[in-house]
Amino acid sequence: MERIRNLKLKSWVAEVFALCKPDQVHWCDGSGQEYDTLCRRMVEQGTLIKLNPSKRPNSYYARSTPDDVARVEERTYICSLRQEDAGPTNNWMAPKAMKTILTGLFRDCMMGRTLYVVPFSMGPLGSPISQIGVQLTDSPYVAASMRIMTRMGQAALDVMGEEGDFVPCLHSVGRPLKTGEKDVPWPSNAESKYIVHFPEERAIWSFGSGYGGNALLGKKCFALRIASKMGRDEGWLAEHMLILGVQPPGSKEKTYIAAAFPSQCGKTNLAMIVPPESFKDWKVTTVGDDIAWIKPGPDGMLHAINPEAGFFGVAPGTSWASNAMAMRSMAHDSIFTNVALTPDGDVWWEGLTEIPPPRLTDWQGQEWTPGCGRKAAHPNSRFTAPASQCPCIDPDWENPAGVPISAFIFGGRRPSNVPLVFQAFNWIHGVFLGATMGSETTAAAAGQVGVVRRDPMAMLPFCGYNMGEYFAHWIKMRKLIKYPPKIFHVNWFRKDADGNFMWPGFGENMRVLEWIVERCRGNSGAYESPLGWIPKAEDFNLDGLAGMSAEKFEALQHIDIEAWKKEVISQDELFVKLYEHLPKELIFQRELLISRL
Ligand code: OXD
Ligand code: MN
Repeated sequence: MERIRNLKLKSWVAEVFALCKPDQVHWCDGSGQEYDTLCRRMVEQGTLIKLNPSKRPNSYYARSTPDDVARVEERTYICSLRQEDAGPTNNWMAPKAMKTILTGLFRDCMMGRTLYVVPFSMGPLGSPISQIGVQLTDSPYVAASMRIMTRMGQAALDVMGEEGDFVPCLHSVGRPLKTGEKDVPWPSNAESKYIVHFPEERAIWSFGSGYGGNALLGKKCFALRIASKMGRDEGWLAEHMLILGVQPPGSKEKTYIAAAFPSQCGKTNLAMIVPPESFKDWKVTTVGDDIAWIKPGPDGMLHAINPEAGFFGVAPGTSWASNAMAMRSMAHDSIFTNVALTPDGDVWWEGLTEIPPPRLTDWQGQEWTPGCGRKAAHPNSRFTAPASQCPCIDPDWENPAGVPISAFIFGGRRPSNVPLVFQAFNWIHGVFLGATMGSETTAAAAGQVGVVRRDPMAMLPFCGYNMGEYFAHWIKMRKLIKYPPKIFHVNWFRKDADGNFMWPGFGENMRVLEWIVERCRGNSGAYESPLGWIPKAEDFNLDGLAGMSAEKFEALQHIDIEAWKKEVISQDELFVKLYEHLPKELIFQRELLISRL
């Protein structure tokens, strides 16, 4: 503690120590040796199982309790001073009232445990776009995961220096130990969970969960909810976006694209797309798979960094066929949570192989055989892998200046109505496309099928302030940039009348990227439709795409005017909800769309 020079940090740790009463404090230096020791102790304690080193070197496996398997949106709060500033799409409580509840919960909550001090940088160390945070946590699983997901340890402390500021992120699993009480493998609090953000104070308090976005506070809590508020105050954007680079053959330049999709739309797969044989001379590189921090650069363009250092990806559905790059990223030095375990000490999940192994131990530690009626892996089971292990990671992924963004893509899962790809007429129209994006409900979820759930810019659960103000901020950003990215909308999921997907997706999405990249470079054609600039078959590369005639492509791009009139009516629901703060530009965009239809 003597060597800690930052006074704010020193006094905050002392304050938390007095409130939470841990047995001891461990200041994380972020070294490999420290990581190994943390993991070894967790193996001894039963939290981690070491995977077979000949199959999955230096990797570990954890099982959570069934009450702690996903982000808990109904327990997530934005505690701004005024409720209006959190807006109608966030849970809110007055900061003082919430602090009273939380102080009660945190009192003595770390008894019998170690308090880990986890300093971290979101973004490359020392980049002007990066931010420093410090997480105080009583979970060694979280401390170890933060070493994969962020630049964690002494280097972050060094950036902070004596007087540097940081975002305080307080976290407890909420399960104190009585003297002599034996710990459980996955401590959490089944009765009480609170994921709380204080946007004005720029602080996070998280209680009761040890899992994912509830507990790895650098990710959704800081890099999206708190950072979105910072971005609004300071003139930048914190977005739920992947970032990729595309380099056509024979071109010296890479075009960088940032893309937002609601969950379950294949975001990580697109971030790591492997060009198919017909695109073998194209280069695609990954900068990030989930979050982008985007700032106006001195060259008049928007520049983006990936604030994270690792991937916290959904395991089920990830395979050598769907995402070989993710598979290679997690080949070693990774942590797996809530997947299934094979008898030889490796991991498995639904979709990893076509034929499941004959025998597994499932995510709850039960014996599992194919056809037993249960899933072997939890649908939200995850791999935590260093981004540096991704074979297609972009050489500039840690460039402190970020990468220049030429295009934004918004997309959703829309079985009906929405064409494969089109381009916004301009920035404000693009903001309107992002504001109205969403996915249709499917038979997999209870409720009416085919209802569109709006998820503006995929930020509905992640915006740390009023969503109407967020749209206004996007519109204002235009004034800060000379060369705004072009904005596109994509839909990989359109179905024909028989319920068959009209587009093959996966690697063939390269064709859509090609059209987008060439639009950015002024090389590909389009015609003006009511929805935006849209390619006809002759504007789009369909060479060698089996089963896709020009007629089929036109059907995929068809705009059904009557159906779109209904779509516009259904967009109203969210607009009415946000009405008080909705920028008038979006209302005008809607009027313009109606008149074009
Ligand atoms: C995620 C999410 O985990 O968006 O990335 O929920
Ligand atoms: Mn995400």
